[in-house]
Amino acid sequence: MSDYKVPESFLWGVATSANQVEGAWNEDGKGMSIADCERFEPELSGKGYKAVNEMTTEKIERALSDNSSKSWGKRHGVDFYHHYKEDIAFLAALGIKTFRTSISWSRIYPNGDDKEPNKQGLDFYYRVFNELKKHHIKPVITLSHYEMPLNLLLKYNAWYDQAVKDYFVKFAKTVIDEFHDIVNYWIPINEIDSIIRHPYSSAGLVKDRFSNKNFEEVIYQAMYNQFVAAAEITRYVHEEYPNAKVGSMITSTMIYPYNSDPRNSLKARQIMRDSYNFSDIQLRGYYPPSLLIQLEKKNIHLNQTPEELKLIRDNTADFVAFSYYSSVCTAFDTTGLKITNANRTVGVFNKFLPTTEWGWQIDPVGLRITLIDLYDRYQKPLFILENGLGAKDELTEDGKVHDNYRIDYLKKHIAQLLISMKEDGVDIIGYCVWGTTDMVSASSTQMSKRYGLIYVDLDDQGNGSYKRYKKDSYYWYQNLLRQGTQIP
Ligand code: BG6
Repeated sequence: MSDYKVPESFLWGVATSANQVEGAWNEDGKGMSIADCERFEPELSGKGYKAVNEMTTEKIERALSDNSSKSWGKRHGVDFYHHYKEDIAFLAALGIKTFRTSISWSRIYPNGDDKEPNKQGLDFYYRVFNELKKHHIKPVITLSHYEMPLNLLLKYNAWYDQAVKDYFVKFAKTVIDEFHDIVNYWIPINEIDSIIRHPYSSAGLVKDRFSNKNFEEVIYQAMYNQFVAAAEITRYVHEEYPNAKVGSMITSTMIYPYNSDPRNSLKARQIMRDSYNFSDIQLRGYYPPSLLIQLEKKNIHLNQTPEELKLIRDNTADFVAFSYYSSVCTAFDTTGLKITNANRTVGVFNKFLPTTEWGWQIDPVGLRITLIDLYDRYQKPLFILENGLGAKDELTEDGKVHDNYRIDYLKKHIAQLLISMKEDGVDIIGYCVWGTTDMVSASSTQMSKRYGLIYVDLDDQGNGSYKRYKKDSYYWYQNLLRQGTQIP
């Protein structure tokens, strides 16, 4: 035990995203979003993340022709839209200081290209934020978390098109103007690197709509458009609301060499560098040389203007936000090695680590290495916006969930973050458990991959009472926050 305590200002919190919890997919003027097209497909959920995440025109057409919400997990979420008061009361009793969520773009601009925002959508977030304010909980807001209006995909081909970037900036400015006195931390794009792994959910890109183009080039162009939009939003916030901060948000998955063969070390280093390339752009303001070389080798040409590149250069992020769940190994030759995945990054299985049912390996020390890496690289405050365990939980007859495995996961990760603050001198703004209540999984659209501190009675097909039950992990986190944190 150590007596290390985080500073008073440290933001302990929980995190979620609109499309995974809100539901009410077609209420009060909300338009259909790309998340509303993701159906739970039991025959695919055991076959790895790729099969589940591939989106096609045919699937979109099927989504458009089906008005139900039952098997469309992200259409019903956990009905936060109608349960927000109850859920926020749970958060208040938990003792957290911050709640990270996103604002659903299609609730504010139902078609994305509407002239005026949907007032009922804005009203909903006013109600949510006022409720948070009542309990002294500060929201951290993501503006794009896998939920763009579907119309922007159908009409403009999503983030590939410059027009969509402009519509996004318009949406961002609308909500920033509305909520600037409540929100101090803005994240323009969740896990900006993630387009590479799941181009549909991150940027609305459906491969078969680009059959005459190099799809990799399409992905990098869409990503570039996101960088430009994020820089424009950063400029706007800095100029209009100088007390607020804007963060870069990346997926942080630690990559180890499979063994000490230097070729494996080099490969691990290259993969890490490739993933840091994206935060480099947002923190340093320019495309790093290694990325430019890769683009050239692949014959990828981006549509860029000198004004946009200057915008990116002049408007870098204030802090580095990231999600951390897992790590994975790599080898220059993977023949015969056991393959697994960590938050949709495919790699080699690490025999030193335990693994979840979804193949994600549990690695608290990897979090400390990530913190050291990111802080050494940027010397900017870090914000852990997602960390948690997806697991199958069991509700007992007396309404309890004994999730000791989740407590163990959180305890060990929080210990590493505290050690890192104390021993490595890393500056950390806050830490959010993913998630609040259970929610629909981003990658598999399952409810049974549960992350919450609060259980929600709902199954993969959308059957259940939506009743909430506090898990043992809820009481554990509450206790940790009450006692003042020490290295466990
Ligand atoms: C993060 C995403 O990468 O991983 C979240 O930002 C997601 O939206 C989380 O829920 C866990 O992934 P999954 O696929 O298990 O829900």
